[in-house]
Amino acid sequence: KSLTIGLIPADGIGCEVIPAARQVLEHLSSSHQLKFRFVHCDAGFEYFQKNGTALPQKTVDTLRNDCDGALFGAVSSPSHKVAGYSSPIVALRKHLDLYANVRPVISTKDPQNPSQKSVDMLIIRENTECLYIKKEQQFTDENNQVYAIAERRISQKASERAGRMAFQMALARDSIRQQQPVEQRRWTGKPQVTIVHKSNVLSVTDGLWRETIRGVYENTPEYQTRINLEEQLVDSMVYRMFREPEAFDVVVAPNLYGDILSDGAAALVGSLGLVPSANVGDTFVMGEPVHGSAPDIAGQHKANPIAAIRSAALLLENIGLPGPASNIYNAVDATLQAGYKTPDLGGSATTEEVTEAVCKYL
Ligand code: NAI
Ligand code: MG
Repeated sequence: KSLTIGLIPADGIGCEVIPAARQVLEHLSSSHQLKFRFVHCDAGFEYFQKNGTALPQKTVDTLRNDCDGALFGAVSSPSHKVAGYSSPIVALRKHLDLYANVRPVISTKDPQNPSQKSVDMLIIRENTECLYIKKEQQFTDENNQVYAIAERRISQKASERAGRMAFQMALARDSIRQQQPVEQRRWTGKPQVTIVHKSNVLSVTDGLWRETIRGVYENTPEYQTRINLEEQLVDSMVYRMFREPEAFDVVVAPNLYGDILSDGAAALVGSLGLVPSANVGDTFVMGEPVHGSAPDIAGQHKANPIAAIRSAALLLENIGLPGPASNIYNAVDATLQAGYKTPDLGGSATTEEVTEAVCKYL
């Protein structure tokens, strides 16, 4: 099988971890009769500073027309407003209709840290709306007090497809688990989907989110018989996620809650440098490590490549190649267990050494 993968390293450590992921995919191809062709695509803040745009049309066209999937590194988005700049990752999700961001959070069996909780959670974050429609405006009232308002959009369509993806992925995870020996499974019960919301306060918007997803469940007999449906208010979700992360399987959340929860979940398992994500639509998948461009460590060979390597695996998993994907996951586990760790995990290995080790264990 031959696959064309678009590579968009963008800024900072993106330019270090995406080549690492590529190296692992190249190494994998020999053992799986997969053929990868890689296409470099431009984007990012640095590109914007040189060329006046953060996302050239050529990148969008190449991804859409020539690629079977893509891997994105990270962008350095300034926190102040820069005229003419808007985030390329947000735009790419829109152009390619990547309506869900999926983030697996998996604890690594670490012999040095046996008390670590056994986490195997998949957070699905709706990716197209909520407060991230960025309709914000500032006003001044009659007493000269400044205030600002942000609009929040929740639609039935976006809620429904995020919900459906959660149920489908819960079933897919279950069938992968059934092939594993019981002692290796981190989740042993019936597949479970938890809807996150705050509809006790936001009864119209979060109410629509919650009821739409419940509706998908109630109208699909297969989901009702095979999946347990739970729900959790977002604040108590944070509490429970830290107290008993092992109680969650698939979690589905509106955009903003999902963004916050998934970074929090990353803290449960060690480092942002370990957590992958994928932006998923009906026709395209783009893997993307959860972390940003980490300007504090860029160019120093300290970046942990594992989040990007796992994002490559997640990409394969979501384009119908779960076998090669699980090979990568296992090689990463073996690498960590053997003690190859970058400084964020308390080790002293370089990006390159960790990448070499993953290739060795493939
Ligand atoms: P960050 O994720 O870049 O860094 C947070 C901390 O984690 C830093 O101390 C960094 O050194 C460390 N870290 C992150 N990834 C690591 C890795 N792979 N290995 C080792 N250590 C790692 O988040 P921060 O500092 O808030 O943002 C920096 C820039 O990244 C900003 O311009 C921000 O806009 C951008 N950003 C981009 C994202 C994206 O492209 N999707 C997501 C988050 C932030
Ligand atoms: Mg984030």
